[in-house]
Amino acid sequence: MRSKLPEVGTTIFTVMSRRARELGALNLGQGYPDYDVDPRLTELVAEAMRAGYNQYAPMEGVPLLRERIAAKLRSCYGLKTDPDSAITITLGATESIFSAIQAVVAPGDEALVFDPAYDSYEPAVRLAGGRCVRLPLSPPHFRYDWERVRAALTERTRLVLFNSPSNPACTVASAADLDELAAAIRGRDILVLSDEVYEHVVFDGARHTSVLTHAELKEKSFAVFSFGKTLHATGVRVGYCVAPPPLTAELRKVHQFNTFSISHPLQQAIAAYLAEKPDGWRELAPFFEAKRDRLRAALSSTPFALPAAAGTYFQLLDFSALAPPGDLAFAERLLTEAGVATIPLSPFYAAPMPLTVLRLCIAKRDTTLDEAAHRLTSFAGRL
Ligand SMILES: Cc1ncc(COP(=O)(O)O)c(C=O)c1O
Repeated sequence: MRSKLPEVGTTIFTVMSRRARELGALNLGQGYPDYDVDPRLTELVAEAMRAGYNQYAPMEGVPLLRERIAAKLRSCYGLKTDPDSAITITLGATESIFSAIQAVVAPGDEALVFDPAYDSYEPAVRLAGGRCVRLPLSPPHFRYDWERVRAALTERTRLVLFNSPSNPACTVASAADLDELAAAIRGRDILVLSDEVYEHVVFDGARHTSVLTHAELKEKSFAVFSFGKTLHATGVRVGYCVAPPPLTAELRKVHQFNTFSISHPLQQAIAAYLAEKPDGWRELAPFFEAKRDRLRAALSSTPFALPAAAGTYFQLLDFSALAPPGDLAFAERLLTEAGVATIPLSPFYAAPMPLTVLRLCIAKRDTTLDEAAHRLTSFAGRL
């Protein structure tokens, strides 16, 4: 059989999680919390099912949830968004990304992607018949080189995929970066897919710069968000896409034949939860910043370097004082010798450079983080 994605295997996240289970290692690899969700959310899901919200939800999403999202966009970013024509509920952010790409990328089109890139972008572009042009950003700062971006844009470029706060670089784009992006695509037939799933996880008093707050980019962007991240519940699989009405109309054409509509009781429960806790998102940054600081403090006297993550629920671990470049090999050593699963950055690059950083997920109980720090400290001591 002819595979449409011949190079795609099992993702590094699945592989690392499986091996962590087999070896009884602590899993700081795959990005999901190991603590419980707010019990109130659980109750609201049960209540929604008892109330009979068990049949198909509207294709574009439950109106009440879309209204609550519009209210949230107003309180977070001062935006006025029409829930009917500009907000679509999708199956996690993953479906927003996939459906938006299918909606706008045609065979022969190019999509610009910054490496290290979240792994779902490239397969979605390829399935649409397009090609990714991947621009590598280098550690430790992963800075955008806007001159290179301008040089990489061609007549065939249709979409720029942008992700801030960035998984796995743990960086946060500046307002100046958005201005550069807007200038680079000005006057061209190029759209933006802005993956903003970590919008509320920005540290040290900084603010997330959404494309929705940029007058020019807002008109040509799909902005993608995830309740999995904001509710500490990656398994709920509810996300949404905010885009101008003509882009939303195209996205919905794909969405209605991709997933059609998203879990009705979960949408009702999330709408109710947002009404009860409209400012819940404000707790996310301090919550994860404390975890970042805890892990960094616990490892501060080891040869590992942990340059403070600017955002996301990840923290990079630099092992250059302990071993030569080769993140896959070092991740394997940490897994088998330290009993800690991490995620190497190489799989996020199309052409990986020699790397000395690994990604750690900090969305874990304090006890998990303390135990991981203990294991990493003993491992470093044994080297
Ligand atoms: C950068 C980025 N985009 C998208 C997603 C997917 O979000 P969801 O779980 O809502 O599909 C993730 C999940 O880890 C992510 O890290």
